[in-house]
Amino acid sequence: MPEQTHISKLTLTNFRNYATLAIDLAPGAVVFSGDNGAGKTNLLEAISFLTPGRGLRRAPYGDVAREGGDGGFALHARLAGPDGEVEIGTGISGGESEGGRRVRINGATARSAEDMLEWLRVVWLTPAMDALFTGPAGDRRRFLDRLVLAIDPGHGQRALDYEKAMRGRNRLLTEGSRDSGWFEAIETQMAETGVAIAAARAEMVRLLAAMIDRLPDSGPFPQADIGLSGDLEAEITNTPAVDVEERF
Ligand SMILES: Nc1ncnc2c1ncn2[C@@H]1O[C@H](COP(=O)(O)OP(=O)(O)O)[C@@H](O)[C@H]1O
Ligand SMILES: [Mg+2]
Repeated sequence: MPEQTHISKLTLTNFRNYATLAIDLAPGAVVFSGDNGAGKTNLLEAISFLTPGRGLRRAPYGDVAREGGDGGFALHARLAGPDGEVEIGTGISGGESEGGRRVRINGATARSAEDMLEWLRVVWLTPAMDALFTGPAGDRRRFLDRLVLAIDPGHGQRALDYEKAMRGRNRLLTEGSRDSGWFEAIETQMAETGVAIAAARAEMVRLLAAMIDRLPDSGPFPQADIGLSGDLEAEITNTPAVDVEERF
């Protein structure tokens, strides 16, 4: 397996129940064990702040700052990976009202939280997300798209381009437009981006299935069998992309 990035050190200050904490972590799977309320999920929440957004619990930052602290919180992670070490720090300072949290990468203030994406992607699947399995397919697509982003940073832009083209096409339809040149241009763009999106999703699922296949089947859990069903997705695995675009 290729060498993967891992968090080698995590330091927390006034984060939830932790006034201060520093832990060293080895590569590979890590298990946190402890009594209810010990602060296991808080650690996962801290890690979830290493990607843009509100984190695992989507909590207001004021709730994350330790009760009895100065109103701020900070966390710092050292990442070790194939390209060496990276230091990422994030948090809010006390007295700050709701708003952005600040991010520092290798000691320099980042322009935005998005800059963290250059160094790592964080994905979580928690019991609160069980609707992912029973809910609408659109939710599963969005989750899959987050996974795809981890291997293909261009995927987000493709999805935006597709939706923009689709909105443009809908607008033409609502206006009753008969401008076939416009339709042709928009539909060509939808076909190109749509097929590229389907191909990226299919590739992600193929990679995941291959990883699952390599897992020893001696563990306590049955092996998962994952797949992607959809007209484009079925075609894209055995038909050249240009032909799929044409049909789409
Ligand atoms: N802002 C905060 N300040 C201090 N303690 C907090 C804060 N937010 C949550 N806690 C404490 O964190 C604990 C819950 O931690 P959690 O990580 O959810 O536990 P578990 O190990 O069961 O996953 C509770 O004891 C709660 O009081
Ligand atoms: Mg918990």
